[in-house]
Amino acid sequence: MYERVIITGGSGRLGRSVVAGFAEHGHDVISIDQTVPGSPVPGVTYRSMDLLDAAGTRALFEEIRPSAVVSLAAIAVPFSAPEDVILRTNAGIAHNVTAAAVASGAKKVIIASSPSIMGYGSPAGWVPPRLPLDEDVTPQPWHAYGLSKYVAEQVAAMFAQQTEDVKFISFRPCYVIAPEEWEGAPTQQGHTITERLDDPALSAVALFNYVDARDVTDFLLTALANIDRVQNGSVFFVGAKDALARRPLAELIPEHHPGLAHLAHGLTGDSPAFSIQKAKEVLGWEPTRSWHTELRTELQA
Ligand SMILES: NC(=O)c1ccc[n+]([C@@H]2O[C@H](COP(=O)([O-])OP(=O)(O)OC[C@H]3O[C@@H](n4cnc5c(N)ncnc54)[C@H](O)[C@@H]3O)[C@@H](O)[C@H]2O)c1
Repeated sequence: MYERVIITGGSGRLGRSVVAGFAEHGHDVISIDQTVPGSPVPGVTYRSMDLLDAAGTRALFEEIRPSAVVSLAAIAVPFSAPEDVILRTNAGIAHNVTAAAVASGAKKVIIASSPSIMGYGSPAGWVPPRLPLDEDVTPQPWHAYGLSKYVAEQVAAMFAQQTEDVKFISFRPCYVIAPEEWEGAPTQQGHTITERLDDPALSAVALFNYVDARDVTDFLLTALANIDRVQNGSVFFVGAKDALARRPLAELIPEHHPGLAHLAHGLTGDSPAFSIQKAKEVLGWEPTRSWHTELRTELQA
């Protein structure tokens, strides 16, 4: 079924791939962002809006009347703005977009969260109950970005309590790799993929998680198509099948996170620290790309 879908944050690192993938799939795509991308996708409508403007956002959604909404807009990097600004911005966007989606008649709403809500990197010392992490492990955010994304999930869950007519999902994309980053462009934190593989300390911070932006797009397409199978307000991790590491996490996690050493023994081979079983079992989605198949320099070697 083809959707008239609003994608917020469509000019961003992840949004550009999602907009392109949805348009390619035949959906009627309207990207809403405060900026317009350098290379717009033909056939996609681009609208500028500050999504912190609740009334303006609602009016724009009511003009567009989407059947579905995928919300990616946010301040996407922890500590990239003052903590109060990140919290206000991301929580505000999540609420404004979800409220406008419901008011304008959308029946499917998917909101971007983040694995960083789990709490890794906490200065107080974070020890989860198990690895790999799954959606039943309770998030313990320790910065405003993580908290804002936890709030975004709760906003979706709150609206799921208000109406049975609309389906809501939140998803936690791992460290997103845009297609050009496989060719050597810097990733979100400024390092190339090869640098992140060569220096495990760089990826250790986020427990070696990553995902190809096109696999996230496939997840979103699959989630929209199969949203009726989902318990309303559900959350999904969306990651690669493997870890962004040249050695098993059973070795790397004890080296970089000694406090988690007792949890890592099962992470043999290329097993990741984030489980994507739920997305596979409930939605039938699995990623098809990995750094082994996509990284240009590795393929040449
Ligand atoms: N990139 C990652 O590794 C990663 C990992 C986990 C979660 N996420 C989440 O995925 C989403 C997309 O991330 P990204 O890497 O593409 O981020 P990005 O910064 O590249 O894109 C975010 C987009 O949101 C827009 N935006 C921000 N504030 C806005 C506002 N007030 N009104 C309208 N537009 C606004 C920006 O202009 C930008 O185009 C975010 O919600 C992010 O938190 C990203």
